[in-house]
Amino acid sequence: MKLRVAVLYGGRSGEHEVSIRSAESVIAALKPEKYEVVRVMIGKDGKWLPTPFLPEPGANPGIDVVFPVLHGTFGEDGTVQGLLELADLPYVGANVLASAVSMDKDVMKRVCRDQGIPIVDYFVLHRDEIDPEAVAARLPFPIFVKPANLGSSVGISKAHNMDELEAALRTAAQFDTKIVVERGIEGREFECSVLGNEDPAASIPCEILPSREFYDYEDKYELNLAKIELPAKLSPEDTAEMRRLAVACFTAVGCEGMGRVDFLRETSTGKLFVNEINTIPGFTSISMYPKMWEYTGIPYGDLLDRLIELALERHAAKKATRFTR
Ligand SMILES: Nc1ncnc2c1ncn2[C@@H]1O[C@H](COP(=O)(O)OP(=O)(O)O)[C@@H](O)[C@H]1O
Ligand SMILES: [Mg+2]
Repeated sequence: MKLRVAVLYGGRSGEHEVSIRSAESVIAALKPEKYEVVRVMIGKDGKWLPTPFLPEPGANPGIDVVFPVLHGTFGEDGTVQGLLELADLPYVGANVLASAVSMDKDVMKRVCRDQGIPIVDYFVLHRDEIDPEAVAARLPFPIFVKPANLGSSVGISKAHNMDELEAALRTAAQFDTKIVVERGIEGREFECSVLGNEDPAASIPCEILPSREFYDYEDKYELNLAKIELPAKLSPEDTAEMRRLAVACFTAVGCEGMGRVDFLRETSTGKLFVNEINTIPGFTSISMYPKMWEYTGIPYGDLLDRLIELALERHAAKKATRFTR
């Protein structure tokens, strides 16, 4: 019997179109001899085509496992994962808590800091207490300003002076009530893929070479000018340290299945910082999560097999857990 895999894609986020592209690649690579694909598209308005899952155990008999390929808000942030938990459906990737923690750039950093994982100096402001002078008194320029819960660089600015800082804070405030301000790192940017549940492994990392001042929305999705170096040109020591930190970050936030951990490396000090973790990384055929695994020795189709296995294992482990006395 083939496993019926519901691929969930589209969704109410700014990354709707990217999600569709990721899902098309996943669907094309799911081995036809093993899987039957059930396409579940969510519109930009949040409407499910054809029908939404019911949040009750046993209510979705046509599905054996769910592969959420939803990036960003209402998909990567624990919301959809909550629905799948209620429905008692196995699903690929991070659980509710890890998804929500990873989506929030403030909480994610706190969890990492608690484990001794190096993160960039930062602090948080509420949208109603924006004070550019106070920010500039605590951090040197350039300063990065980010909405706490978003992705794709949307709402993120790099401020070089007070005027830019004021504008950056206003911009970020449009996208979230919580704003993260952090020290800008002069250096290089890297990514590393992680795969597994209790005993995760990290891939060989790659370097991102933005064509702009930083890896902003245009650079990610419109210009097509950013360059990727795979494998990243790093010393064996830096490579090993990055892979160690990638697994440490994945474990710290409680991630399961997959995660792409992104790094900054400061040129003046050689110091590595974990910038963020993405629990549903881009999955198009040219996306770095699968590319790094391919380079490390796991072809795209086998990677999907492994992710589905990990989803089923996690579900089985949960089944063996009592929730009442
Ligand atoms: N502290 C920082 N120093 C230098 N560059 C940064 C810093 N924070 C973010 N960036 C740049 O901004 C980009 C987007 O920031 P990131 O935190 O990854 O947000 P997103 O979740 O939207 O991808 C990064 O890929 C990097 O190019
Ligand atoms: Mg990023």
